[in-house]
Amino acid sequence: MKIAPSVLTADFSQLKMELDSIKTADYIHLDIMDGHFVPNISFGPAISLQIAKQTSIPLDIHLMVTDPLKWINEFAKCRPQFITVHVEANDVNETIKSIKSNDINLGLSIKPKTSVNTLLPYIEDVALILVMTVEPGFGGQSFMRDMLIKVEDLVRIRNERKLKFEIEVDGGINQETIKLCRKAGVDIVVAGSYLFNMADRKKGIESLK
Ligand code: DX5
Ligand code: ZN
Repeated sequence: MKIAPSVLTADFSQLKMELDSIKTADYIHLDIMDGHFVPNISFGPAISLQIAKQTSIPLDIHLMVTDPLKWINEFAKCRPQFITVHVEANDVNETIKSIKSNDINLGLSIKPKTSVNTLLPYIEDVALILVMTVEPGFGGQSFMRDMLIKVEDLVRIRNERKLKFEIEVDGGINQETIKLCRKAGVDIVVAGSYLFNMADRKKGIESLK
C-alpha cells in the first residue's frame, strides 16, 4: 500500500519540519480548495511551489476547484506526479487536454454521490482514479465504507479492460479503515489528520503500510 500524507492538517508555520517528518511517504498529497467547489479554502499554486522546492517526494495534487482549467499551467510548475481533477468540475475535457499537454499524469476524482460510470469516458486516459471516502472540504471526517464498492468496481473494470491506472482513496483513513481499503484493492491511501496528529509520523506511515 502506498501512503500519500495530506498536508492539509500540517502546521504550516513549520512547513519544513512537517515535510521532513513524512520523508518515508510515497507521495505528498496537496488539497487545493477554492471555497466554491467545496465549502473551504486551503492554499494555492504559490505555496504548492514552495512545498515542491522543499521535498523530493513526488507530489499528488488534488484540485477541488470549480474551474480547474484556469489553474493547470500554474500547478504544472510544481512538476507533480499527478494532477487530479473532479469529474464534477467545469470543462473536464479541456482540463484533461491541458494536463496532458503539460506532460503530467492525469488523475480523476469522484465525490461520494458520483457514480463510477461518470469516469468511463476517460478510463483509457487516466493514470489515477481518486475515490472520495468523505465529502471533500475538510480533514478529520469519518470514512464512508460504502465507497469501497466503487473501488471494487474499478478493480474489475481495470482487469476486464487490461488497464493500469492506480486507485486511490481520500478521507477518513486510520489504522482500521485502511484494512478495508486493502481488502477492496486500493493502491494508494491519502492520510491527513490521522498521521499529522501523531507525534511519530515515520512510525505512523510504517504501520499504515
Ligand atoms: C478532504 C481532502 C482530504 C483530507 C483528508 O477534502 O481531500 O485529502 O485532507 O483528511 P483526513 O485524512 O483527515 O480525512
Ligand atoms: Zn485530497
